[in-house]
Amino acid sequence: MHSDDPFAKRWVGAELMDDPACDERMLFRTLDQFVYINRLVSRYRSILARYVLRDMAREPGRAYRLLDLGSGGCDIARWLLRAAARRRLNVDVIAVDSDPRAVAYARARGTPAGLKIEQADLLEMDRFGPAEYVFCNHVLHHLPDELLPRAIGLMDRTATRAWIASDLLRSSWSYAAFHLLSPFLRDSFSFEDGKRSIRRGFRPPELLAAALAAAPRAAIRIERLAPGRLVLLGVHP
Ligand SMILES: C[S@@+](CC[C@H](N)C(=O)[O-])C[C@H]1O[C@@H](n2cnc3c(N)ncnc32)[C@H](O)[C@@H]1O
Repeated sequence: MHSDDPFAKRWVGAELMDDPACDERMLFRTLDQFVYINRLVSRYRSILARYVLRDMAREPGRAYRLLDLGSGGCDIARWLLRAAARRRLNVDVIAVDSDPRAVAYARARGTPAGLKIEQADLLEMDRFGPAEYVFCNHVLHHLPDELLPRAIGLMDRTATRAWIASDLLRSSWSYAAFHLLSPFLRDSFSFEDGKRSIRRGFRPPELLAAALAAAPRAAIRIERLAPGRLVLLGVHP
């Protein structure tokens, strides 16, 4: 049956920041703005507090490792290290990004104790594992449909305790609401790529189907969070 909903299917085009020839100054401004976009909409602090820090606190004396896939400027990794230190938890974060410019940007902002920043495709994540936790924020939507099960399967095999993928719900409401941010996202790819990202985002059954096929060992859950977010979670008993 024909659907009139322009968001019924994932959009297949690329984001501007994924072009290796894109303007570096605009890319760095985009990574600068991710700090604020993440704080405003991605809910990463409550997600990591709930699914990672709380789990670590069950055995507070242990040393933990978390892989942050598609880590961009590493603002999330830095926050996690600070939040863990405040709780006297011991975690190392390996931040993996395939874009050498994002890796250079993140390294230039400093590498606190416990943070390692590596350039690699997330499909090579097993080079950096095993890790108790594997996390990614706003990264799965960069992948084409056919790579999703492989990426999720690898997250499942690399994580010994839990893996968490936080991403965007594909909806006309999110797309319209995102336009409110346009005055704050100038001189960067953030606004155009934000719109493209929402069109490349997911509906819950799509992520769930990929996860159930790829990660049969894990207890899998998907949650919707405001504003316009999906959190896919796999936990190993
Ligand atoms: C939208 S940004 C998100 C960055 C960061 N996670 C955040 O929330 O601020 C997506 C990042 O994923 C990286 N990326 C895209 N595809 C990737 C892949 N196949 N492997 C590793 N990194 C990838 C990009 O280079 C970019 O830095």
